[in-house]
Amino acid sequence: MTVRIGVLGGSGYTGRELLRILARHEGVEVTFATSRSAVGDPTPIPRLRFTEADLERAEDLDALFLCLPHGAAAEWVQALPEGPRIIDLTADHRPGSGRESAAVYGLAELNADEVAGARLVANPGCYPTGVIGALRPLLDEELVDRDRLVVVNAASGVTGAGRTPRTDLLFAEVEANFRAYGEGNRHRHLREMRALLEGTSLLFQPHLLPVSRGILETIIVPVPEGVGPEAIRAAWEERYGTEGAVRVRERRLPELRDVVGTDLLALGAAAVDGIDPPVVTVVAALDNLGKGAAGQAVQNFNRMFGLPANQALRLSPP
Ligand SMILES: NC(=O)c1ccc[n+]([C@@H]2O[C@H](COP(=O)([O-])OP(=O)(O)OC[C@H]3O[C@@H](n4cnc5c(N)ncnc54)[C@H](OP(=O)(O)O)[C@@H]3O)[C@@H](O)[C@H]2O)c1
Repeated sequence: MTVRIGVLGGSGYTGRELLRILARHEGVEVTFATSRSAVGDPTPIPRLRFTEADLERAEDLDALFLCLPHGAAAEWVQALPEGPRIIDLTADHRPGSGRESAAVYGLAELNADEVAGARLVANPGCYPTGVIGALRPLLDEELVDRDRLVVVNAASGVTGAGRTPRTDLLFAEVEANFRAYGEGNRHRHLREMRALLEGTSLLFQPHLLPVSRGILETIIVPVPEGVGPEAIRAAWEERYGTEGAVRVRERRLPELRDVVGTDLLALGAAAVDGIDPPVVTVVAALDNLGKGAAGQAVQNFNRMFGLPANQALRLSPP
């Protein structure tokens, strides 16, 4: 069986990454990829060129990926015919959007069964994938002291902001620089994280890293007395096993170079001296365009269509 796929917004950062992964995917045919500004230009799929969006062409599809700006995806979902199953990479149907009841949240390792039967999957945000992926198993195993604050210091490469030109993202503003943004616990990803980590008091501080891709999140986790990094690693290993896209680092904390260009989420934990009541430092690393977007979208797609879970994914460090 060949699964017929369309991609709306194929010329953006996540769209191109998705097309690169799909080019290696056996058993799929990408019938179109859209862009308004790059019509006629070649895509990463051999012999496929970008076209304008056309609702009628969506009728013949099995699956449609939405790599659009926020807001545009919800409009398309309303207008689309019943036919294709949809993987939405935007925030339009994520928890906290007000439209979450229409979709299954696709953090691939955490709710694989619901994803398998979904018509519409809300692909998680890049920052939330690391934070929720790290913390959800720890909350389930009572390894987080919910009465204290969890502090997340996160840094993302510049592709996290998409391709639309912005003065604050010019090369000269970003290169050899490092800065916080979204200060005051106001980043839009917080709604999604709070919804999935209910009962957790969360302080999320993002930073802009002068690299093109990659996210590193350092999370200070308040833990009950007696809980250390070993218990945390054991909870992750129990939840994620060794087959999927999550890797638990035993000897050292994860780094960007472990994950950039892959579809992996790497997790690590380290003991902290001299803090009472105790905390553990947790680090999550992922490629914002890989596990943070297109890689996870393909994981969800594989699940929805009964394909091998890791097909076409890049699960080794480059
Ligand atoms: N970048 C990341 O690391 C990342 C990670 C996770 C999730 N996301 C989410 O994924 C979505 C796509 O992000 P991105 O970084 O790929 O954005 P992007 O680089 O700005 O790409 C947006 C794509 O949508 C097209 N487009 C723009 N406005 C449109 C409209 N009104 N109608 C139809 N097509 C339109 C663009 O091409 P034309 O302008 O030529 O039409 C382009 O192909 C966003 O919702 C983003 O929040 C991004």
